[in-house]
Amino acid sequence: MTATDPREAALVAAAFEARGRARCPHSGFAVGCAMRDAGGTIWTGANVENASYTLGLCAERVALFYALTHGAAAIEAVAVVTGADVPAPPCGACRQILFEFAADADLVLVTTNGAQLRSRVRDLLPLAFDASFLAPRVP
Ligand code: THU
Repeated sequence: MTATDPREAALVAAAFEARGRARCPHSGFAVGCAMRDAGGTIWTGANVENASYTLGLCAERVALFYALTHGAAAIEAVAVVTGADVPAPPCGACRQILFEFAADADLVLVTTNGAQLRSRVRDLLPLAFDASFLAPRVP
């Protein structure tokens, strides 16, 4: 993706819109995520918090779990928007989940002040654990 890629611009716009629907009364840190699948469909989510803090869910996982359970094709690109001073990367838990379902996706991290950082999901998680390690073994 390049800075002028209209598909990336649409994805980032969708992530901004999703961020507006974040439910984050406890942290005040709103996050929006948008994912484009191989068919061009954009799936979105935002973080949702709870008074029992650990039960909340990050925007990335809200978006991905919704996409996966509503017929999404392979995820090709992911955009995450935060209000941080510099582009904020997905947390460790989200990296693991994203790796399993969208390892080859392009990633763009965006702030509300216009900063952008591009990466790929695969590059966020070197030496990743995946299903290949789960083959039954005799101890
Ligand atoms: N958050 C996300 O939505 N995505 C991340 O990758 C990092 C953190 C949310 C979780 C919580 O609602 C708030 O940001 C503060 O941690």
